[in-house]
This record gives sequence, C-alpha cells and structure tokens, in this order.
Amino acid sequence: MPEHISAQLDFSGRVALVTGGASGIGRAVATQLAGLGARLVIADRNTKGAEAVARKFGAEQAVALTVDVADPDSVTAMTDAVMDKFGRLDILVHCAGVGIERGFLETTPEEWQRLIDIDLSGTFYCAQAAARQMVQQGYGRIVTLSSTAGLRGGTGRAAYGAAKAGVVGLTKVMAVELAPYGITANALAPGAIETELVARMHSDETRRVYRAGIPMDRYGTPDETAFTAVFLASEQAGYVTGHVLGVDGGFLAAGVMHRQQNQ
Ligand SMILES: NC(=O)c1ccc[n+]([C@@H]2O[C@H](COP(=O)([O-])OP(=O)(O)OC[C@H]3O[C@@H](n4cnc5c(N)ncnc54)[C@H](O)[C@@H]3O)[C@@H](O)[C@H]2O)c1
Repeated sequence: MPEHISAQLDFSGRVALVTGGASGIGRAVATQLAGLGARLVIADRNTKGAEAVARKFGAEQAVALTVDVADPDSVTAMTDAVMDKFGRLDILVHCAGVGIERGFLETTPEEWQRLIDIDLSGTFYCAQAAARQMVQQGYGRIVTLSSTAGLRGGTGRAAYGAAKAGVVGLTKVMAVELAPYGITANALAPGAIETELVARMHSDETRRVYRAGIPMDRYGTPDETAFTAVFLASEQAGYVTGHVLGVDGGFLAAGVMHRQQNQ
C-alpha cells in the first residue's frame, strides 16, 4: 500500500496488455497508456490494425500480437508472448469484443453463441490468463468492458446484453477472489461511444432514439472512455475494485426527461 499517493499518473515500469487495441476504445486506451510511459502489448484479431497502432510507439515500447480471444489456446499463447517480450504483466484492459443488434425473438442459436464466445468467454479467458501472471507478482489491474446494455434492457440486445451482464458478474467475482493478491478488477459500462463498432451498428434511427435518452444529448468519444480505463489501471486506484463505471453521458441515471428544461 503506497504511503503517499501522487496525483500524477505514471505508468513507467508497467506492462499493459490491451486486447482489441487495433480499433475504437482499445486503440485510445493504448495511446493514452503509451503517453504515460507504459510498455504495451496490443492484441487483436486484426493483425494489421494492431501493428499500425504499435508502430506509433516503437518496438521498445509496444508490440502487436494476433489473438482470437474466443480461443483459449490463442489467449494462452498471447500471455506467454507478453511474458517472453517484457517479463511481467501489470495491466489488462480487455477491449476486444463484438456487437449485434437483433431482437430476442429473432436471435439464432449461432448468433447467441458467437456473442457469448467472444464477449463473455473471451473476457474470462483473457482475465484468467492475465491474473495467473499477476498473482505471481502480487500486483495487477484488470479492466473489463461491459456496457450499459449489460445493466439495462433495450431492444435488439438479447445476446449482447446477456454477455455484457455476464461480464459484470465475472468482474465482481474476480474483484473478490483476486483482492488478496493486490489485484483490482473493475468494469466499464460505456453507453454510446463513437467507434468503428457503433459506425457499423447504429442506424440514423438508432442514433436519434439513443440520444433522446442521454442527458448530455451526444455520443461519447473513445478518448473520454479510455481515460476512465486509465484511471482504473493506475496504481492510485488501488482501493477501487468490483466497480462498474458508467461512461454514458448520464444514460444510466436518466428517467423521464423534458429536454427543454435543460435549455
Ligand atoms: N462503442 C460503444 O458504444 C460501446 C458501448 C459499450 C460497450 N462497448 C464495448 O467496448 C469494447 C470495444 O468496443 P469498440 O466500440 O471499441 O469496438 P471496435 O469494433 O472499434 O473495436 C473492437 C476490437 O476488438 C477486436 N476483436 C473483435 N473480436 C475479436 C476477437 N475474437 N479476438 C480478438 N480481437 C477481437 C476487433 O478487431 C476490434 O479491433 C467492446 O467490448 C464493446 O462491446 C462499446
């Protein structure tokens, strides 16, 4: 336990694994952590994208890895490669994930299984493999990606919402079981964040309906989301664990809203 806590974020000496780092929130997390001195492994199934992000920081500071987070063997190979390259693993920010917008009545078993495999099982495989290293070091920070869809209902989110609700439960269990090893585990619950995923998934109609429920009346940015992960990944956040942090412009807080009262 540090005696004095500096307000200055400094990740020098820390090694961070950012899954899904080729795009969106993961790319923003990797960029912010690199700027604060962390050494990085950027892992993604999009090899070219991960390499492009890693190249910005140079081979001493960052490497790219190809991984399929839904495949436990691929995940084990990923954490082995982190240890080979840097000899330690302090931080996991697990951003790899996919989305789907499909009604409960229409969702097929294949669609359901794919979302559970990538978004929920992928979180389990990556966090477990990372935690097994962190336990040996007696220090670790795990940040998972849930979603407001894991906390509230909504149309078209049967598989996605179930997977993201599972991430919340898993993160809380990790927080409890890993606390004795100096490891924290927290989840982000982003709302609508302007990333490649949302560009693919949100129609104009979805955007209109979504914004009506967001007190800030806008989508968030990858950087706004990434900074909350950086906070949770910091040494200073050592007493914050088992938390689910909404990054959502107030969406989770909102009920009935008369928009004109804000103007
Ligand atoms: N953007 C949002 O509004 C939003 C909201 C809530 C939660 N999230 C969650 O945040 C995380 C990141 O989302 P994003 O918006 O940055 O998406 P994104 O599509 O921009 O990035 C996701 C990355 O994950 C990678 N990926 C997907 N499946 C993979 C697999 N099986 N193995 C390895 N890599 C894989 C993709 O190649 C991509 O680079 C996801 O878990 C998503 O569900 C996003």
